[in-house]
Amino acid sequence: MFVSVPPVYDTLLDALRRPLRSLRISVTDRCNLRCAYCMPREAFGRDFVFLRHADLLSFEEIVRVARQAIALGVRKIRLSGGEPLLRRGIERLVEMLAGLHDETGRPIELAMTSNGVLLAKKARALKGAGLARLNISLDALDETVFQRICGSDAPLAAVLEGINAAQAAGFAPLKVNAVIKRAVNESEILPLARHFRHTGVILRFIEFMDVGTTNGWRLDDVVSADEILARIDQEFPLYPLAPRHAGEVGKRWQFMDGGGEIGVIASVTQTFCHECDRLRLSTDGKLYTCLFASDGADLRTPLRAGEEDAQLRQRIANVWGGRRDRYSQLRHIASEASARKIEMSYIGG
Ligand code: GTP
Ligand code: 5AD
Ligand code: SF4
Ligand code: SF4
Repeated sequence: MFVSVPPVYDTLLDALRRPLRSLRISVTDRCNLRCAYCMPREAFGRDFVFLRHADLLSFEEIVRVARQAIALGVRKIRLSGGEPLLRRGIERLVEMLAGLHDETGRPIELAMTSNGVLLAKKARALKGAGLARLNISLDALDETVFQRICGSDAPLAAVLEGINAAQAAGFAPLKVNAVIKRAVNESEILPLARHFRHTGVILRFIEFMDVGTTNGWRLDDVVSADEILARIDQEFPLYPLAPRHAGEVGKRWQFMDGGGEIGVIASVTQTFCHECDRLRLSTDGKLYTCLFASDGADLRTPLRAGEEDAQLRQRIANVWGGRRDRYSQLRHIASEASARKIEMSYIGG
């Protein structure tokens, strides 16, 4: 399928003059893990009410939004959740989105962030459907620490097999994300770094963020990127690499001995809002302009009311044009902290 989307604006900028380049789509608010920093079991227990199937955007609706976002400048789409592999037929959605091109005929970069538990079975099909890049979350190599942090008895081996399957399917470079929480898995920093050296996997350490309102975030629990890098550098000296492109959230480093690339995502101690080019589409079709927003713009109602593409596009352009978010830069100012932040599993990381 080749679908070319015509441009409408040269560059659509938000109120802080940031271009729209990336769209993150949450395809389900459900997950097969209960990570303490994202969906703690106390808050997401048996009686938690997830969205009903009828509330989710259909694949066709997602693609309609994606096409209009591409016409406004989006060049990269990332599928997330919740756990995106729990959405039935996800390979079909990948295939539909992988067929989208910009006005010059260049394909949109299609990526996914997954916890890897179901990946061993699905990696090949995802690659075949046109998924270009894959990031996998893995916070520990010690089974006890792993199960504690992911709040589940899911076997660590499943994720490791998922990573192997993804590499075998040709996802390169594959990225592994490790969120580090003080006294919970900081002991895993070096084992993870050792494990992924010389494998071609780019391991990225992520500072624990204050997303949502259920993860009990405290600044004391954040292990800063500087501290993480210093610990690794002591055993394996590192040097910095230039960003691959503007707006990249991960800062890149390289092992001096040729062991490969590693990265840090320092959204707490070295904020990157000034370059934020990301728009988010929630599972039920709301557009959010920040991971820490409390409200989104409903697209599902107009979509289901049969709104024309041009109007839908204008609606998205208005949302981006009015955007002033820079939460991470303002988080230390108490009056700026939103009390009604939405949960990450719903907005899609
Ligand atoms: P690449 O395209 O491979 O660089 O992916 P990515 O790092 O943009 O996406 P991924 O889903 O792997 O996210 C890694 C971490 O960065 C997660 O903890 C995200 O929540 C965080 N992250 C991504 N985008 C933003 C953002 O706009 N703001 C903040 N604060 N964190 C973000
Ligand atoms: N802080 C930092 N990263 C988080 N993620 C989920 N919750 C948090 C948090 N509170 C990460 C996941 C996944 C990505 C989408 O976001 O580990 O890799
Ligand atoms: Fe699930 Fe990812 Fe959240 Fe963990 S971080 S609970 S794997 S959505
Ligand atoms: Fe973008 Fe909001 Fe993250 Fe800042 S905190 S980088 S504005 S999503």
